[in-house]
Amino acid sequence: MGTVISNERLADNVYHLRVSGDYGGEMGQFYMLRAWGAYPVLSRPLSIHQVEDNGIEFLYHVVGEGTELFAQLTPGDDINLEGPFGSGFPAVTGRVALVGGGIGIAPLLYCAREIPGCDVYLGFSREPFRTEEFRPYAAKLTVDVGGLILDNVDFAEYDHIFVCGPHPMLKAAQLKGIAAATSGSPVNVYLSLENRMACGIGACLVCSVSCKDGQRKACADGPVFLAEEVVFHD
Ligand SMILES: Cc1cc2nc3c(=O)[nH]c(=O)nc-3n(C[C@H](O)[C@H](O)[C@H](O)COP(=O)(O)OP(=O)(O)OC[C@H]3O[C@@H](n4cnc5c(N)ncnc54)[C@H](O)[C@@H]3O)c2cc1C
Ligand code: FES
Repeated sequence: MGTVISNERLADNVYHLRVSGDYGGEMGQFYMLRAWGAYPVLSRPLSIHQVEDNGIEFLYHVVGEGTELFAQLTPGDDINLEGPFGSGFPAVTGRVALVGGGIGIAPLLYCAREIPGCDVYLGFSREPFRTEEFRPYAAKLTVDVGGLILDNVDFAEYDHIFVCGPHPMLKAAQLKGIAAATSGSPVNVYLSLENRMACGIGACLVCSVSCKDGQRKACADGPVFLAEEVVFHD
């Protein structure tokens, strides 16, 4: 059980939650959080935003019942965290770009800290949030509001690109990776998928992901997958 340190509203329906306790994890892993009793039945998955000496941070968008309950948390409240779960972003060297869209920037701050000198691209449809927190770690920080953040990224410049954002952005990143490879600049593009989850630990198959080698589980085999492995159906 963790204790809420702060739960600050940053933008329209976007909150930054800090929880004290002995929590850790790898880049791109997630926790299952619950701040209620028996109902809602399922805990909610949130990515590790940052790890502190005595706690952990999350960044979340209020979209439904569970996240609305998170938004009501105040300092001193108890919150149950299970994790860390999943297979996250790999530890890499070379030329690295982190590309986040909207709330998809959530898992990337911890990556930026772990890969100092990376280039960071953050895109927002409206109000930006948590962008300055990336600056100490980034060699280059690009923030775009209202456009398509991927338009700013030259895939041929990088060895590895980590991407988290809305579904169309993930598909576009996969295509840009393929195009770069076809023109002689192979790049490893890693996508963090946010499939709907139930158990979060590989037991229910709700989070199934179509991959070239068959169905895989976003919660246990992912949420991070090499873009070239994922088969998008829509
Ligand atoms: C690995 C992973 C990491 C995530 N990290 C973040 C993050 O850092 N910040 C953030 O804002 N959101 C994140 N999400 C999405 C977040 O889990 C959902 O927005 C949240 O569960 C919605 O719950 P709700 O009760 O408010 O909405 P409701 O729609 O009422 O949820 C109903 C059910 O659907 C599930 N669900 C709904 N939307 C999603 C979704 N997009 N992804 C997965 N499950 C969903 C819920 O867990 C719940 O079981 C992540 C999702 C995954 C799978
Ligand atoms: S959420 Fe149950 S198997 Fe992935």
